[in-house]
Amino acid sequence: MIVKPIPYGRQHITEEDIQAVVETLRSDYLTQGPKINEFETAFAAYTGANYAVAVSNATAGLHLCAVTLGVKPGDKVIVPPITFAATANCIRYCGGEVVFCDIDKETYLMDIHKLKSMLEAAPKGAYKGIILVDFAGYPVYLKEFKKLADEYGLWIIEDACHAPGGYFVDEEGKKQYCGNGEFADLAVFSFHPVKHIATGEGGMITTNSKERYDKLCLYRTHGITKDPVLLHENHGGWYYEMQELGYNYRITDFQAALGISQLKRADAGLKKRQEIAQRYNQAFARVENLSIPYVSDDIYHAYHLYVIQVKDRLGLYDYLRKNHIHAQVHYIPLHLMPYYQGLGNKKGDLPVAEAYYEHCLSLPMYPTLSEENVECIIKNVLLYVSCNK
Ligand SMILES: Cc1ncc(COP(=O)(O)O)c(C=O)c1O
Repeated sequence: MIVKPIPYGRQHITEEDIQAVVETLRSDYLTQGPKINEFETAFAAYTGANYAVAVSNATAGLHLCAVTLGVKPGDKVIVPPITFAATANCIRYCGGEVVFCDIDKETYLMDIHKLKSMLEAAPKGAYKGIILVDFAGYPVYLKEFKKLADEYGLWIIEDACHAPGGYFVDEEGKKQYCGNGEFADLAVFSFHPVKHIATGEGGMITTNSKERYDKLCLYRTHGITKDPVLLHENHGGWYYEMQELGYNYRITDFQAALGISQLKRADAGLKKRQEIAQRYNQAFARVENLSIPYVSDDIYHAYHLYVIQVKDRLGLYDYLRKNHIHAQVHYIPLHLMPYYQGLGNKKGDLPVAEAYYEHCLSLPMYPTLSEENVECIIKNVLLYVSCNK
């Protein structure tokens, strides 16, 4: 019998989603139609940001952010090492220099104390910006980072790919949703199938700045505008101008239709992720050689990932795989990738991230993970860990 493995993450597609896509396929627009604006409006409302710009994927979105913020060759930008490669690569696309800052050993997010030391040690103006990642779905306490960023004249990109719907509660008791534009200049979300909202490929940028929003729209479509107010000349109804060197980073209308339909279930999906995390927490809380993700009372974790630390990570990974449970590792520290080592980074540079990597393992986490599967995962993890002390 062929057993279907349990992946670490997967999409949830309903009949309603399929209908929404089919309707759009039957409509007049496959791309550049009304569904895109509808998706952007709904997503902006979901995050609380003033503007949203849908893009072909989050990697393109991050690149657009870097272009919009004017990253130039030689500009130094600070990035955490525990993230997907795209977070840092967007700076390299523009010729900028990626400088890594180590993570906090509890939250696995960028360590603000280390960031502060880096900024204090460098001449004023040495860095242009910071990219902060809501890693695994844990919202960065952006208010503190914003204070520091303002002090040093830095912009902030929030890589919120793991955290739509997540928030932290500030000192005034206000819920600050990931990507709400209050603290970061720009935020980016991904709609890859393992993420909370799936459109196949897809992404969204949110911001509260009209100026940045206009630039993002321009760069998303080749740097071309037809807006009569912005044109240098006007030869008639067909006339457009390419005013900047832009890209084709558009999403299609049928993907946007899927996104709109998925967004309606986003909160229900988050709730389910929370329930699965509670069950894992309960099962693993007092297990020797295993630790569960840190949470604090003032955050609402979006649980894109449920990351444990386990003494014998390779052994557990292999054992689970033999039992058709496909756990995953997030992430191999970015500064240790051959490409980034080639740029002068090396082992030993970021000890907390490197120690984290030695023992981290992401257990399956997605809203349609059945109770039976959750119990099977728990049973297998406990069995392996108790027999391999
Ligand atoms: C933190 C983070 N940033 C960026 C990306 C890139 O997203 P996409 O696959 O939509 O380009 C991912 C995707 O895995 C991610 O996890």
